[in-house]
Amino acid sequence: MIRCLLFASLLIHSTLAQKSSGNTSKTWLTLNGDQPLVIARGGFSGLFPESSQFANQIADSTSLSGWVLFCNLQLSKDGLGICQTGSTLDNSTNIALVFPKAQKTYNVNGEDVSGWFTLDYTSDQLYSNVTVNQNIYSRPSVFDGQLPLATVEDATGIKPPKFWLNVQYDTFYTQHKLSPALYVQKAMRLMGINYLSSPEIGFLKTMQGKVNKARTKLIFQFLNADLVEPTTKQKYSLLLKDLSSIKSFASGILVPKEYIWPVNKDGYLEAATSLVADAHKAGLEVYASGFANDYPASYNYSYDPTTEYLQFVDNSEFSVDGVLTDFPPTASEAIATFLQSFCPFAGKPLIISSNGASGVYAGCTDLAYQQAVDDGADIIDCSVQMSKDGVAFCLNSADLMGDTTVMTSFMSRSTMIPEIQPNSGIFSFDLTWSEIQTLKPQLVSPIPDSGLQRNPANKSKGKFMTLSEFLEFAKAKAVTGVLINIENAPYLASKKGLTITDAVAKALSNATFDKQSTQQVMIQSDDTSVLSKFKDVPTYKRVLSIKETISDVPKQTLEEIKKYADAVTVPKPSLVVVSGSFTTAFTSVVENMHAANISVYVGVLRNEFVTIAFDFFSDPTVALATYVQGIGVDGIITDYPATANAYMRSPCFDLQADVPYAIPLTEPGSLLSLGTAELLPPAEAPAPPLIAADVVDPPLPQVSNVSAIAPLAPAPTATRPSSGLANAANVGVSLVAIMVLSLLSMGY
Ligand SMILES: *[C@@H]1O[C@H](CO)[C@@H](O)[C@H](O)[C@H]1NC(C)=O
Ligand SMILES: *[C@@H]1O[C@H](CO)[C@@H](O)[C@H](O)[C@H]1NC(C)=O
Ligand SMILES: *[C@@H]1O[C@H](CO)[C@@H](O)[C@H](O)[C@H]1NC(C)=O
Ligand SMILES: *[C@@H]1O[C@H](CO)[C@@H](O)[C@H](O)[C@H]1NC(C)=O
Ligand SMILES: *[C@@H]1O[C@H](CO)[C@@H](O)[C@H](O)[C@H]1NC(C)=O
Ligand SMILES: *[C@@H]1O[C@H](CO)[C@@H](O)[C@H](O)[C@H]1NC(C)=O
Ligand SMILES: *[C@@H]1O[C@H](CO)[C@@H](O)[C@H](O)[C@H]1NC(C)=O
Ligand SMILES: *[C@@H]1O[C@H](CO)[C@@H](O)[C@H](O)[C@H]1NC(C)=O
Repeated sequence: MIRCLLFASLLIHSTLAQKSSGNTSKTWLTLNGDQPLVIARGGFSGLFPESSQFANQIADSTSLSGWVLFCNLQLSKDGLGICQTGSTLDNSTNIALVFPKAQKTYNVNGEDVSGWFTLDYTSDQLYSNVTVNQNIYSRPSVFDGQLPLATVEDATGIKPPKFWLNVQYDTFYTQHKLSPALYVQKAMRLMGINYLSSPEIGFLKTMQGKVNKARTKLIFQFLNADLVEPTTKQKYSLLLKDLSSIKSFASGILVPKEYIWPVNKDGYLEAATSLVADAHKAGLEVYASGFANDYPASYNYSYDPTTEYLQFVDNSEFSVDGVLTDFPPTASEAIATFLQSFCPFAGKPLIISSNGASGVYAGCTDLAYQQAVDDGADIIDCSVQMSKDGVAFCLNSADLMGDTTVMTSFMSRSTMIPEIQPNSGIFSFDLTWSEIQTLKPQLVSPIPDSGLQRNPANKSKGKFMTLSEFLEFAKAKAVTGVLINIENAPYLASKKGLTITDAVAKALSNATFDKQSTQQVMIQSDDTSVLSKFKDVPTYKRVLSIKETISDVPKQTLEEIKKYADAVTVPKPSLVVVSGSFTTAFTSVVENMHAANISVYVGVLRNEFVTIAFDFFSDPTVALATYVQGIGVDGIITDYPATANAYMRSPCFDLQADVPYAIPLTEPGSLLSLGTAELLPPAEAPAPPLIAADVVDPPLPQVSNVSAIAPLAPAPTATRPSSGLANAANVGVSLVAIMVLSLLSMGY
């Protein structure tokens, strides 16, 4: 009863039309030409404990209509069917606490396995005191300890459109005098089983004469290639060579996704195998398993899970017939939405790059900017830095240590400049432009602790651009606009004799950006005095960068901002308050700013799942949809413009469009409200409002005579700055990501 009440509090709403048939007009290269199926392993197990009531219900409310609920069958001592992956319950339930020291060891298909086995417990024992847990440590544990194991009847009780039962261990249960075959025969009389699968040929052959083939399809599941199939005692890799004999007892196969698109040991996608084509030729359907937003599969996907689904269902050669996933909303979004035709949509928010497509190539290189243009960025950005000899160029920060190889050659130039950053650094204004040109760019992750590196193959590719080269490039590519970010102006003027504002104004004017209005120029700074310097060119849009986290902008502050800026950029937590990777509230910042006619750009959005709140389903597209449709920002700043572009040109984005699937948005705080009280993260103090006095900066100082200034003493040691961490920390980078990585390297 309590559970039902809690359940009702998870508000998932789509701002769009209700789900319809999910029928896209696209022609598919599946066996029968139908749209591929979204198959949810244990419901929405990427978020909730597998097969729990939450997992099943929320899979239903967030998946494409026609989705399939997938249950791995286990049996209790008295023959009750339970949905759980694996023969033991120790990781997925609290059984070790309920029955302490009751661990056993059994031989399961030739291998000794220790743990608490379902077949040692009666249904009474399992249902009185055992509750389910999330058994994958990168996923939330706050839903642990409150829900019972799901029986097969519980699963079908939610009336999923289709139901898939996988008999994981036929031989093992049969050895222990329990018969999965008899169980399934009984179950089929009571419920619809649309798909019945097993990795054991003997079981499927037994069932062949016992199922109504029009109602239940038999599917053979391939396990890892090196494992031995219990009936034939042959390796799965060998069985794969004879698809026609599989066709004699099954109408399809379920294979690990690497059987189709192999990933090499370095994490790159190799050419597709001919498996789907071969199987389709033999008349077999092909289902691919192992999809999850939080097990990044290959660098080729740039951490965007929808890209991976599209690789399986929308390449020119083939489409699989369905995908088995822990994250059914993401699979639904990829299949139902992203493949619809592009409807150009007026008034969509701007896609602003963050140092170019810095998720794909080292930030601020020619390649990163070219990628941003190719990937659909409207505005490309240059954070201007100055060399010692006054050359303005683009780089994320004045400190060269993070994004270049400067440490290998210019260690002696390391200094400590507290006005700029707390750590020592090697700063651009202490090197000449010709020295800077000897440096190689470095593609580094802004979230180094996550262990999720960015494409090593592109690590040192590309070259840096001067501001003039950047502006010429932007003109030649006819992008909608450029964003020029200016920082450290007072320091550069007073201590280094460099006038960064003049350098920018001259470069813009030399490139005639001040005399045209076809391409938007945005001048961004955290310093209102810098913005004032650009007041004289009315076509320039001035953008105040508000770096601190704020919760509210009082009227007086808005009036102050309006004197200097037409728009602001804010970090993500100033719009969505996050606690322990769960959202708790939306702030009023966008509403405040819009009331004063000030545009709001939010950044930095990234694809890496550790930067995405659980409420956004570890899915960068759901995060985008929340900022754009849920909150109404005017632009998003992203390391991955391709992901933003795919979303913003999808019909889902067009509120008028009749779409088959609407991206689900959760109310902030509603997911957390389903959690177990003791497991919730502690409440954090709210961020302060932005006060007017903090907005206005003092006038820029006089430019100094640099030769009169004594050189700074070098700092004793240099440490690597923790650049970008502040951004990542706002959704709580989980240390468990490192564990995920070790799973990955084990070939998960
Ligand atoms: C899907 O849409 C096409 C084109 O609109 C239509 O011809 C077809 O009958 C539809 N199929 C289903 C199952 O609704
Ligand atoms: C249970 O968790 C342990 C510790 O992380 C792991 O070594 C083991 O493989 C897991 N067992 C199953 C069946 O997932
Ligand atoms: C469940 O726990 C209660 C309280 O600890 C205990 O009395 C009861 O016997 C347990 N039930 C089973 C089936 O173990
Ligand atoms: C994946 O990326 C690597 C490295 O950039 C490239 O060589 C390979 O062709 C890509 N694979 C596919 C299937 O596109
Ligand atoms: C950079 O990475 C992308 C994606 O893996 C790949 O397509 C591209 O070829 C790489 N570029 C170079 C120059 O290796
Ligand atoms: C002015 O623009 C030209 C190209 O139009 C470029 O070659 C030159 O370097 C620019 N000069 C400055 C000072 O930016
Ligand atoms: C809002 O600002 C735009 C320019 O950014 C201007 O054209 C428009 O008139 C303003 N609207 C109001 C109501 O102030
Ligand atoms: C700058 O300072 C040097 C050394 O103090 C002095 O010789 C020079 O005349 C000054 N130049 C200007 C333009 O003030």
